[in-house]
Amino acid sequence: MTLSRSEALAGARSRQAVASRPRVGPVVAGAAPGAFGDPLSGLAAVAVAAVVLGHAGSDRLPGGGLGVDVLLVLAGFVVTVALMDEFDRTGRVALAGFYGRVLRLLGPALAVVLVVVSAVSLVAGGDATTGALKGEAVAALGGVSNWYAALIDMPVGLAPEEGAWSLLQHLWAVALIAQVVLVWPVLVVGCAPPKKNSLGGWAWLRRVSLTLAVVSAALMVVLAAVSDVPGSDVTARVAFGTDTRLTAVMLGAALATVRNTNGAPARGQAPVQAGARRAWDTIGMLAAAGLIAVMVAVGEFSVGAFRGGSVVVALLAVVLLAAATVPSSRIGAVARIPAFGWLGARAYALYLWHWPVVVWSGDLPFGGTPAFALRVTAVVVLADLTYRWVERPIRGGAVGRMLERMQSEDGARAAMLRRRLVLTTSTGAVLVAMVVAGMVTTPSAAVTESAAADDDTAVPEPEPPPVDCAVDRCVALTFDDGPGPHTERLLGILDELDVTATFFMLGEQVERFPAVARRVRDAGHEIGAHTYDHADLLTLEPADAAEQIRAGVEAISTATGTTPTLFRPPYGSTDEAVLGLVAAQGLAEIHWDVDTLDWKYRIPDAIVDRALGGVAPGSIVLMHDIRSSTVDAVRDLVGGLRAAGYTLVPAGRLLDGMLEPGASFSSRPAATPTPGQPESGQPSPDVSSSP
Ligand code: NI
Repeated sequence: MTLSRSEALAGARSRQAVASRPRVGPVVAGAAPGAFGDPLSGLAAVAVAAVVLGHAGSDRLPGGGLGVDVLLVLAGFVVTVALMDEFDRTGRVALAGFYGRVLRLLGPALAVVLVVVSAVSLVAGGDATTGALKGEAVAALGGVSNWYAALIDMPVGLAPEEGAWSLLQHLWAVALIAQVVLVWPVLVVGCAPPKKNSLGGWAWLRRVSLTLAVVSAALMVVLAAVSDVPGSDVTARVAFGTDTRLTAVMLGAALATVRNTNGAPARGQAPVQAGARRAWDTIGMLAAAGLIAVMVAVGEFSVGAFRGGSVVVALLAVVLLAAATVPSSRIGAVARIPAFGWLGARAYALYLWHWPVVVWSGDLPFGGTPAFALRVTAVVVLADLTYRWVERPIRGGAVGRMLERMQSEDGARAAMLRRRLVLTTSTGAVLVAMVVAGMVTTPSAAVTESAAADDDTAVPEPEPPPVDCAVDRCVALTFDDGPGPHTERLLGILDELDVTATFFMLGEQVERFPAVARRVRDAGHEIGAHTYDHADLLTLEPADAAEQIRAGVEAISTATGTTPTLFRPPYGSTDEAVLGLVAAQGLAEIHWDVDTLDWKYRIPDAIVDRALGGVAPGSIVLMHDIRSSTVDAVRDLVGGLRAAGYTLVPAGRLLDGMLEPGASFSSRPAATPTPGQPESGQPSPDVSSSP
């Protein structure tokens, strides 16, 4: 199928245009580096490096991930140049050929990453992300990762402590490009100049691109501003929507209409005046400096990024790209450094691999520079292997050549080639089949969660039978750092077991999942505060610490209508001064005496053993509902505690009658205090324990 504007024009146009049109380099075509190829590759290298370093944990580059907007500008530019170029040469766009090239470019490496990520998750098992992976993998294959993330309201970015909510969240950008590529040929042909060299050239395409860019930017900024109201979600919808994220791609497309026509010179012709070139070099360097400044100053997932940071990055990237594509510019020369070329060729593979690697390495036994170096090395090695063994051969037409040779070669050799092809194909097929089978037979947390999510009108639990913890053997289960993607499933299990517990929620998480917070309340559980974003209060100035406590409480009361009276300082970090701040806000501190270390050992049996081994009457057990493995452990834990004669109560009931602002407990004190213990029942908290 072809899109043809005017067959009559085609002949004249193609003879005229073929000699003068700049070619798209290896970034898009996998061949024929031309006037733009090298600088594009260089910019892609720098941008993807920023993304990888930012996500791998470089403190100096909190906004490194915004490099994705630079990559999107490049993608918009490259795709548009390719389409305009084809139209100029042939007067049409052959859709099948165009889609085929894009698929060959983006498909193979994506397939490899999907298979490996799925297989590793199945083998590793029980990982917090496995349950959600099934839907994500299917969405990735369909090119709709970004809308899937929006649909399930996926938390944006990395999880508060380590790891991430999702192994494939980064594929939103790949999906966005796929969606643009699907419709862009129609618009390019529709906006093509009616006559060769007609005044304005591709002006209509430029107008359309710029309009879409402006509308999209406005949409993102407005939605981000609106969604920042406490109690509503700052969402994947805003962060990943095709409509909100189109700006960068469209700005790249608009630049293509300027650079590709109206005398923008291809290699070796129409030299740019020295003065103009110097001016472009200066502008380009300023843009590069601006990009670095934004990435250093603005966190990728901060509100600032969505309220304009991302748009500013896209604008600066367009200016930099414009400067780099001026013939014989200095910026272009810098971008042609061989190392950049090496990285640029692997840019797509680097992007695909970096996020799963960062998630997998989220809880290494060591941190800091060694962990950072290990992550970056793993990403580069995986990307290089993928590029060498999958991308380059397929882009170079290895499969087609093999088929051709099979037809032309003589008997013995053809048979050998056929065997090799059958072996490769069947190995691949078996691998995919194993992964698919494993995915289908793995119980999905996501399904349970969405089933629970429908239950929005949950009736409050009836009051539990009266318990007197002065007499009964009571234990309080506490769940920190949520609400998160696994909280719904936990609520279902607790409901089934008829257990009420205490949830120490982060304000930030409550704003992401206000509906889940309300369901926790509706199910009759107790909600305590745990600061706004898990700050270590001992490291803050008193005013900032007070603000952390206040903002956490406010988020909870805004979302649930209930103001908490219990507070748990993150990491158990507290002292007299912090306790004073807590008291001033009408809160009592609740610590713990049994640490399951569930954030560290993600094995349900280990969590159950640690909890059962540590409890005594009056214990408070620390767990985290953001961990799927913790949720998996709850059923056995409750069974074990009940078998040992314990009654499960929320912390407030465990300490009934003892709680007042400024009180601090890590368990229920024994009825007759042992001599020497503080009379108020304020044992020093276990500061050594982590979350
Ligand atoms: Ni915590």
